Amino acid sequence: MTVRMIKQFIQAQAVSEGAGVTVHRTIGTPALRHLDPFLMLDYFNSDNPDDYIAGFPDHPHRGFVTLTYMLDGHMLHRDSMGNEGDLRSGGAQWMKAASGVIHSEMPRQIDGLMRGFQLWINLPGSEKMSAPGYQEYSPEALPVVQTADAKVKVLIGAYQNTPGPIVDPITSVHYLDVTLQAHATFDFALPTELQGFIYVFEGDASVAGTNLPTHSFAVLAEGDSLAVRAGADGARFILVAGKPLREPIVQYGPFVMNSRDEINQAINDYNNGTLVQQRAAMIRD
Ligand code: FE2
Repeated sequence: MTVRMIKQFIQAQAVSEGAGVTVHRTIGTPALRHLDPFLMLDYFNSDNPDDYIAGFPDHPHRGFVTLTYMLDGHMLHRDSMGNEGDLRSGGAQWMKAASGVIHSEMPRQIDGLMRGFQLWINLPGSEKMSAPGYQEYSPEALPVVQTADAKVKVLIGAYQNTPGPIVDPITSVHYLDVTLQAHATFDFALPTELQGFIYVFEGDASVAGTNLPTHSFAVLAEGDSLAVRAGADGARFILVAGKPLREPIVQYGPFVMNSRDEINQAINDYNNGTLVQQRAAMIRD
């Protein structure tokens, strides 16, 4: 058994997205272009509506999956073919953009805290032009495993034999939201073939003696087990891991393909109005 340590820290970069919403980006910055199979991680956190109310009006995606996890706030999403969903605090949306989706993600509330994560998970070449789909899960649909000193919410993967509702057969993604009491330790078996990270967003924690203060993004080193210990005020973090695809990655904004030719095709399709080829199927729970 090899205990995983911290391989790399990434400082979040403030990036303006959508109609001027500031997000804090870690994966997808020059310091960490990708963390195969993950292409991007944005954290948004503001209690000032002026910061977020303009939202993310119509924009395209092709070639990957977006996973949005709302910690606080309320977001309406709508695509160009009439699918509509409402993401509430504690809920998650898995959107397989694949061959193409044009959608908007707009805050619905006009005051209060808006906080959450958006993760981009790459698709293999064989899936990039497949049919798109949405899966939306209410807070009640995401299981929580309560132990004596931890609360573990499972979005994808499993914790103590409790599976999350989102199925990801290609990259075997695990996505857990872990709340730990002061000085408690969270132990987790994380198979060697998975590449992973931790983002601490409340309190502070440590991994193999390395301190992770609030808003630390840390890439995990190789190993097959993980122990995260909370500090004196407890800790809350997401633990995310997945199987690398080890394919060429060519990215142009919201299009992520295997080759420059496929990117040119995506740009042409978008300009010609043919990016969206199939209506996204919608599953709600
Ligand atoms: Fe989007």
